[in-house]
Amino acid sequence: MYDNNPTLPEIKKEIDETRQGEALFFDDLQAAGKKKFYIESYGCQMNFSDSEIVASILSEVGFAPTRNMEIADLILVNTCSIREKAEETVRKRLQVFNQLKLKNPGMLVGVLGCMAERLKAQFLEQEKLVDLVVGPDAYRDLPKLVQTAEDGEKGINVFLSREETYADIAPLRLDSNGVSAFISIMRGCDNMCSFCVVPFTRGRERSRDAFSIIAEANQLFEQGYKEVTLLGQNVDSYKWENPESGQVVNFAQLLEMTALVDPELRVRFSTSHPKDITDEVLYTMAKYENICNYIHLPVQSGNSRVLELMNRTYDREWYMNRVEAIYRIIPDCAISSDVITGFCTETDEEHQDTCSMIEWANYSMSYMFYYSERPGTLAAKKLKDDVPLETKKSRLNEIIAIQNKVSLQQNIADIGKTFKVLIEGNSKKSDLEWKGRNSQNKMVVFPKIGQQKPGDYVWVTIRDANSATLMGDQTNN
Ligand code: SAH
Ligand code: SF4
Ligand code: F3S
Repeated sequence: MYDNNPTLPEIKKEIDETRQGEALFFDDLQAAGKKKFYIESYGCQMNFSDSEIVASILSEVGFAPTRNMEIADLILVNTCSIREKAEETVRKRLQVFNQLKLKNPGMLVGVLGCMAERLKAQFLEQEKLVDLVVGPDAYRDLPKLVQTAEDGEKGINVFLSREETYADIAPLRLDSNGVSAFISIMRGCDNMCSFCVVPFTRGRERSRDAFSIIAEANQLFEQGYKEVTLLGQNVDSYKWENPESGQVVNFAQLLEMTALVDPELRVRFSTSHPKDITDEVLYTMAKYENICNYIHLPVQSGNSRVLELMNRTYDREWYMNRVEAIYRIIPDCAISSDVITGFCTETDEEHQDTCSMIEWANYSMSYMFYYSERPGTLAAKKLKDDVPLETKKSRLNEIIAIQNKVSLQQNIADIGKTFKVLIEGNSKKSDLEWKGRNSQNKMVVFPKIGQQKPGDYVWVTIRDANSATLMGDQTNN
């Protein structure tokens, strides 16, 4: 990527492009006189959600968040290991923090999250200026580790837990639009997709106390939030046993409990695994208007042989059967996907199966990547990463083009339809326009009229569309 050390604008540009690295909000009044921490998050929504737990833990011991890293006493970076590029971005970012640290000798720099877990003490050898290395299950230990670092020693805790869900910690929602919030419902992952590092960085799957989840949803609604997204690597395998009654709550039941918090509270969830998503979940979605008609159902590959090598435990037919069930039970449901191109030994023909799947499943959008081998994974140990980078990239470009076409067709088909939209805030381009999402999770932009505010529901009739956004006008419905 860069031959020399990247400059700050270069890094900022790259971060803007990936819409990552968002820092938490800073409130001057709150922060006055307190020690300050600055936190940046990379990777999946779970990591962003974890940063809010970290913020809560640190605020308990007298730290206040700041958006300005120059004045921070503690800089934290919550890292992702999913692809090599994600790790490269963090390493470049650390160079910037290190320069800052050389100017401010008292400043501490800590690495949290998946990279901390993957590299453990090795990190401290590679990045000598890092003071703290803290894995995703060790955040309760942060105050002690910060103290250790303040005393001049390295603070490290990368133990993975079988129980930790941070159920009792109220996340500090500092960078929020006040309308939508994430709620972690489980941690870790017990699947062993051969390409994936998550089971190694996040440990065993465990589900959080259902009542603590509902209490959090209730509290958010009381604070004015109108949308919650239930988060887990594989939400369909959510399973919590009440230790007192022995009663078991599955994901469909949790979804129903959340929907019942209030009809005005929208419920979303991510991620669904094709092998685990049940008709019970689909019927629950159909039953409640406030459970959004949107499912993120990553296919990874459209070819059965590749899926087997990926150890996804479903094949093309099984996946198609699940998609058919979704469109049968929830006809206006939008489905999105994750796709990997150029996985070990993938042929051109097999790649074509992924192309055809995107068209067949009619995804509203997809996150698309070329395969990046991760040390320690099953694929790294057993399979040859033999698809040339150029081929991986050209296949990726091909599926991006197909997905853009499918998204555009789908959005054009929405022209003339009227959707209930939850206002999130001003549109990117103009403060004379609102942006919000419809149930299908599509972004809708429309002119402001009247006295509305973020968090209000309005009806919008679509007049125009591109592959990413619907444009419309408010109507009375
Ligand atoms: N739990 C989710 C995925 C979480 S990781 C699921 O099972 O669907 C997010 C996405 O990153 C994955 O869906 C996959 O498409 C992509 N990904 C994971 N490991 C990867 C790798 N080694 N190379 C490229 N993409 C990868
Ligand atoms: Fe990774 Fe598979 Fe678990 Fe998703 S389900 S986090 S891809 S191992
Ligand atoms: Fe990345 Fe860890 Fe999430 S590897 S995608 S931050 S679980």
